[in-house]
Amino acid sequence: MSNVFFQSKHALSSFVDLFVMKLGPSLFGVLASVYQYQWVYDSYFIPLALAMAMWSIIQSSILTPAERASYRYTNYNTNDEMDQCMTALRQSETVKQFSGEEYHSKRYREVLDETERTADHHKWVVEVVKRGSRVIHQLLHVIGTIMCLRLLARGHMKSSDVLFFLGHFQVTYRPLTYLVGLGQDVYNLHSNSLTLLRLIDNDNDMVESEDAPDSWDISEGTIEFKDVHFSYEKKTPVLKGISFTVEAGTTTAIVGATGGGKTTIMDLIARFYDVDQGSVLIDGVDVRHVKQADLRKSISIIPQQNHLLPKSIKFNIQYGTAATNMSATQDEVEGAAQKAQIHEKISSLAKGYETLLYQGGTRFSGGENQRLNIARGLVRPSKILLLDEATSALDMITERNVQNSINDGTKGKTCIVIAHRLPTIIHARQILVIKEGKIAERGTFAELKKIPNGIFKKMWEAQMKVAKERSDFDIHGMT
Ligand SMILES: Nc1ncnc2c1ncn2[C@@H]1O[C@H](COP(=O)(O)OP(=O)(O)OP(=O)(O)O)[C@@H](O)[C@H]1O
Ligand SMILES: [Mg+2]
Repeated sequence: MSNVFFQSKHALSSFVDLFVMKLGPSLFGVLASVYQYQWVYDSYFIPLALAMAMWSIIQSSILTPAERASYRYTNYNTNDEMDQCMTALRQSETVKQFSGEEYHSKRYREVLDETERTADHHKWVVEVVKRGSRVIHQLLHVIGTIMCLRLLARGHMKSSDVLFFLGHFQVTYRPLTYLVGLGQDVYNLHSNSLTLLRLIDNDNDMVESEDAPDSWDISEGTIEFKDVHFSYEKKTPVLKGISFTVEAGTTTAIVGATGGGKTTIMDLIARFYDVDQGSVLIDGVDVRHVKQADLRKSISIIPQQNHLLPKSIKFNIQYGTAATNMSATQDEVEGAAQKAQIHEKISSLAKGYETLLYQGGTRFSGGENQRLNIARGLVRPSKILLLDEATSALDMITERNVQNSINDGTKGKTCIVIAHRLPTIIHARQILVIKEGKIAERGTFAELKKIPNGIFKKMWEAQMKVAKERSDFDIHGMT
């Protein structure tokens, strides 16, 4: 990715350099010379000038399609392959788990060889064009000199003019050769720019609205979905007409089968994507009509997947306040860790909160990582808290404790909780059951449990059955 970025960034600066600094002056030089041939010497020289121009065009066009393709090939494929190799390095655990070392080192060697081969090919073509150009130049020079000598013999030209012409020929030729070189630059630039456009196309950043206010804050935290339709890929609708309201300061739970679109709903609130139809409103304002930074600064997301950074534990929790320059104090960091039931574990480490994660430091279990993630989400000052399966990796007792502290710590905040384990959402103001991109059922826990043959009722009964079988969970205490 960084490789692509730097190459593409280079394309942008080359664009300015190429068109402003090089192409303009060179074209001017050539046109001025042709003008001089016409008026100062003789129109006989026009064919010569044209021959030179033709040659420069031929030169440009014999930068063969193969050569261009090879440059693009190097640019696209090796970037993709290189990115894959880099990802493999970063995901070294996955590589180890699936014994992928041999595969990746082989691919890496192949990528390097390929890069070298295409670079050699590219160099070879450039060299041929350069040498060929020199030969043709000499030839044109000789033709020009013969023409001058013939005109001199016939008395149409003075010897001083001949000398002047030969000097002038050099002056004309230089900008022409320069233009040929620019032809190559244009192709390379085109190729790099395509890469940049591809990068921009892939970028998920939403376009800021032109009429967005300079600054905007979530005041109450009411969330409203109005007939929202959304798809990641055109032909596969993911959300098909979702409408609901989460009153400020209340909790709404979302449940449903995997792949139903629950995480997508959360992503639309923080505007990681734009809806295809309908709207997402916060405090009555369409999220597309405010600046993304303003929208996200008061939303705290505890995602389904843990993304911890190879830094200290403190940094990882503090990162919840990255938008305010890591403003969380040590006390706030510890407070959040306590709520997430991870403070004791951290305190038991020799370096406590300064312990490094990964990179020669410690490694947490899945559930511990998840609790760090929760601490990071809780330390963030926010009006809206979105929890996506935030406690799924915890054992039931820890989950209940964490859930209780989340409930205590989030009083007054608007919460949306995605959960698979239904006991954790008993107290939600409303529960939405999502099925294949639609709200199939909605209501309170008690209401949903009563719907005959209802999805929620079935989920609940299935979970109760499992819990009873395991008898590690006091289901009666929860109902
Ligand atoms: N970035 C993406 N690009 C393309 N398709 C996606 C993307 N993210 C999700 N999807 C697809 O959209 C659908 C809904 O995904 P989503 O993550 O919202 O489901 P979910 O209800 O959260 O599932 P789970 O319970 O497994 O977390 C799925 O079919 C998924 O494959
Ligand atoms: Mg999900």
